[in-house]
Amino acid sequence: MSPTQAKEHHGAAPPPVPRLLGVPGSPERTRPDGSGDRVPSDPAGATSPVESWDAPQVDADVSAAVGCVLDAVLTERVARAHAVDEQFATDLAARVADFTRAGGKRTRSQLLWWSLRACGDDGATAVAALRVGAALELLQTCALVHDDVMDGALLRRGRPALHADLRIRYAGSSPAGRAGRFGDAAGILAGDLALAWADDLIAETDLPAPAVRPVRRLWSDMRTEMVAGQYLDVHGQATTAQALPRALHTACLKSALYSVARPLALGAALAGSDDATMRALDAAGRCVGMAFQLRDDLDDVFGDPHRTGKSGGADIREGKPTYLTALARARAAAAGDDRALAVLERSLGDTGLTDAGLAEVREVLDATGARAVVETKIGRLVARGLRHFDGAPLEPGAGGRLRELLRRAAEGAPDSTPAPDLTARESGR
Ligand code: IPE
Ligand code: IPE
Ligand code: MG
Ligand code: MG
Ligand code: MG
Repeated sequence: MSPTQAKEHHGAAPPPVPRLLGVPGSPERTRPDGSGDRVPSDPAGATSPVESWDAPQVDADVSAAVGCVLDAVLTERVARAHAVDEQFATDLAARVADFTRAGGKRTRSQLLWWSLRACGDDGATAVAALRVGAALELLQTCALVHDDVMDGALLRRGRPALHADLRIRYAGSSPAGRAGRFGDAAGILAGDLALAWADDLIAETDLPAPAVRPVRRLWSDMRTEMVAGQYLDVHGQATTAQALPRALHTACLKSALYSVARPLALGAALAGSDDATMRALDAAGRCVGMAFQLRDDLDDVFGDPHRTGKSGGADIREGKPTYLTALARARAAAAGDDRALAVLERSLGDTGLTDAGLAEVREVLDATGARAVVETKIGRLVARGLRHFDGAPLEPGAGGRLRELLRRAAEGAPDSTPAPDLTARESGR
């Protein structure tokens, strides 16, 4: 994705104006204590929903339309959180809302929308689709906030990860050593809250009658698959699993399905697509979703943190059994390259690995050919994925947009805001 495209996705253009039958609540104001936490100034008005969208309006800027729906939902949720408890609302609920509002590439909700449109929906299901898209973004908040706790990651979307942010906020008032555990615990709760809001949003969305069962089933499967994949990921890390098929299986469950295949299926289900179309989109989504995760794994080692918004080399330092590193080991072993094997052996899982050590790993990933093989595999997966569309009865215009979006999904992150320099002291680790 080019920086220009990224700007579009990050809503640099003014958001489209929906046909408002009820206007979301008046803008939130910032608390006077200097914390930056938000207080809704009109909780009662915050519940008014956006009730109508035209398809061309959404087509013009899907991210902004999803952002508009999210804004209404989140304003209402934060207002209700304030009625529960001020501390909870300002610390946790407002952070979950802010993280979700700011968003990332919004790949999943865009895939859902263009799948819906490619499957022939003329906008009749737009409100439901945008709400399910918004729920996907909330699920993504849950996934990322929990993932950063599990992966010990301090940076996300170019800013302190949510748990690190809370840790920093209370570092001064926590006894030594307690801030880290507090941050992790708060991150778990923040992710739970995002998941609860996502589920509520699905439950509170009026779906077309034929879509009710498939959407509920897809949503349920998707959540379970993601948890299964994340479990295999940390299990593989703990047991230093290195088998290539297992690395691919984990990538499919933890990322390909919820990032690409299931959003496509949700869009098709909302459009009332037949089984053959659903199968074609599922097959395409699995291929491109795998390419998406393989790109993410490459970006971890070779990507610029200023572009990805994440710390470079985190997978290596954590000892993640990615396909990339498993492939490098397998190729080094097959070639009898003991030096490469030794570098991988001592570097993977070394949390104190220096930048020079990371550069050595990069060199091994290049020299063994693992990087090039993964690049080739990404290209093949995208091509194979798009071929699954050939026999499917997709609308030509929207189908073209969907193909383009899928291609870009496998290209990796666009430019992000500069990553702040988080010191060990700030991180509380
Ligand atoms: C990151 O997903 C997590 C993975 C599954 C690799 P994205 O790259 O879609 O993250 P955002 O939402 O754009 O930040
Ligand atoms: C994350 O995979 C998958 C989920 C969030 C479910 P990663 O751990 O590779 O994602 P990043 O690289 O931190 O975004
Ligand atoms: Mg992870
Ligand atoms: Mg991670
Ligand atoms: Mg990653």
